[in-house]
Amino acid sequence: MYPQEIISDVRALNDILDVVSTYVQMQPRSGNHFGRCPFHQEKTPSFSVNQDKQIFYCFGCGAGGNVLNFVMRIENMDFLTALKFLADRVNFTLPDKKNNPSAVRQAAQRELSAELNKKAALFYYEYLHSENDDAMDTRDYLEARGVDAKLIKRFGLGLSPPEWDGLIKHIPDANPADLVRAGLATESKKKPGQYYDRFRERLMFPIIDNRGRVVGFGGRILKTSGEKEAKYLNTPETNLFFKSKQLYGINIARKAKSPEIIIVEGYMDVLALNKAGFANTVGVLGTALTESHVMLLKQINCKTAVLVLDSDAAGIKAALRAIPLLVAGGLKVKVLDVSANDSGAKDPDEFLQKHGRLAFTKVLAEAKNHITFQLWLEKNNHDLSTTEGRIDFTTEAAKIIATLSSDIETDAHVKEIAQATDISPAAIQGEINKLKGTSSKEINLPRNLPLLRKTEDRGLRDAKKGLLSLVLADSHAAKALNKSGFIAPDEMGGHVYEKLLTLAFENAENNIKPAPADIISYFEEAEEQQQVAEVFFTSQQYSDVEKALNDMAQIVKKALIKSKMMQLTDLEAIKHMQIQEKSLLQQYISMSDG
Ligand code: GTP
Ligand code: MN
Repeated sequence: MYPQEIISDVRALNDILDVVSTYVQMQPRSGNHFGRCPFHQEKTPSFSVNQDKQIFYCFGCGAGGNVLNFVMRIENMDFLTALKFLADRVNFTLPDKKNNPSAVRQAAQRELSAELNKKAALFYYEYLHSENDDAMDTRDYLEARGVDAKLIKRFGLGLSPPEWDGLIKHIPDANPADLVRAGLATESKKKPGQYYDRFRERLMFPIIDNRGRVVGFGGRILKTSGEKEAKYLNTPETNLFFKSKQLYGINIARKAKSPEIIIVEGYMDVLALNKAGFANTVGVLGTALTESHVMLLKQINCKTAVLVLDSDAAGIKAALRAIPLLVAGGLKVKVLDVSANDSGAKDPDEFLQKHGRLAFTKVLAEAKNHITFQLWLEKNNHDLSTTEGRIDFTTEAAKIIATLSSDIETDAHVKEIAQATDISPAAIQGEINKLKGTSSKEINLPRNLPLLRKTEDRGLRDAKKGLLSLVLADSHAAKALNKSGFIAPDEMGGHVYEKLLTLAFENAENNIKPAPADIISYFEEAEEQQQVAEVFFTSQQYSDVEKALNDMAQIVKKALIKSKMMQLTDLEAIKHMQIQEKSLLQQYISMSDG
């Protein structure tokens, strides 16, 4: 890691508004700049940049941070890559190896891994096109499965030879340990110092990242001779390859520039859909869809995700887990079951083989939105011919519908359920309202986002944020609050707020005032950084700072006492607390005598 001063220098040289403006069109408004958030879908701009504080924050989805966080997020870069990116942008030379050996070594290692993977991809590609018997057999196999020469080239498919060290021999100048680190070779456990190719006799699918680097491989088994080997072998997690952050075909889907991305399970499905003209397809690499995947989709400007998962129980489970993540990312989500209407296909590849691309285009156009899909699943789980079944189904359905923020959509689904169950729409709507209950004030905010998951009352949260932003900006207020002992850092709820209040107190005592962008960098997790940015964006000008301080502190303290009181069961204790509350709330924090 670079020393903090270097990071601050790079940040200072890169004005956040300049950097953001290369991605988002920003307009000045009331001291800030606003634009449409690049991290979630929105029509009215709620993404804002504050140039004084050098931070960004989205009032819609809660994304926020300093310029480095912005670059990390929008370019999907790790911290060091983003730092280098910003340093390069302003011709700032980062310190050399001597000062920072480990980071430089890691970056070099990643570059080397990418280079070795590229060499391997070429080697496998050439081997597939050789005159060896196994190569000819594999070409026949591909042809039989409808994978033509164009597809082979487009995806750079290859074949790994049967020898133990075919690849190792082919790159003789590579250090075997580097090949192991790149995921291409393994070291023998029995004979240390002895290395073998990881992939042998497999059909090779190079996995190429968003930036066009070969980061890994999927290798499909070819021989069918009853051995217990896995059907697919993937590159293990390396310094370059993270299954949960890669999508197969993203490099091609990105170029398709389609707002709709089709998500499938298998390598062969991605190929088949490409052949049918759907280059806007990506495959998850045998894992569950993750938040990183959603980010990747958003980076290529995806607005609608169509989940076309295998129609077995595992596929449905995967879809149900993927839906909330995609929705939280602001994407429209549709689900397509290719086995519907007795199509006899278990995955999109089979569907296309059996019914052709026109039929696929048709079912794709009819893909259910995710609510309809979930309702349909629930319906199949209940016996609607009994009263009990209808009530159970309606209860489950209400839970699903309650996740919607649009009244119009809600109404449409309520009517649908009412018709299917003979339960009155008013009763169903009543159930939904109950479920939405206390959080009804927040209905227009995107749901499921980690930041907004809190059930905390909105007013209380605003008071906490306001209080923090005030004491962080005003050292007199910080000192006064600290001296009064009215609210201690560990009473703020959550470690981010606790740390912020501690910082405010300490900085005030030491008469230092770090910039907001610096304070953000004290936090490591993106979610924490967002919370900090959110706090800084709550700042206001108060005509009477002392009054504002007291007002907000009172709200926080009241909520604190209330929650403590709720936990009490003993009457005496409650009485005692009530008396304490009265006297506490009479306390006034004075800023003048200090
Ligand atoms: P074909 O059987 O050739 O049509 O391939 P497919 O891509 O349709 O495979 P399948 O439907 O069996 O599996 C879907 C995806 O899950 C694959 O593309 C892989 O990404 C993953 N997968 C399947 N089997 C394995 C396995 O044994 N190991 C690993 N790591 N992943 C697997
Ligand atoms: Mn298949």
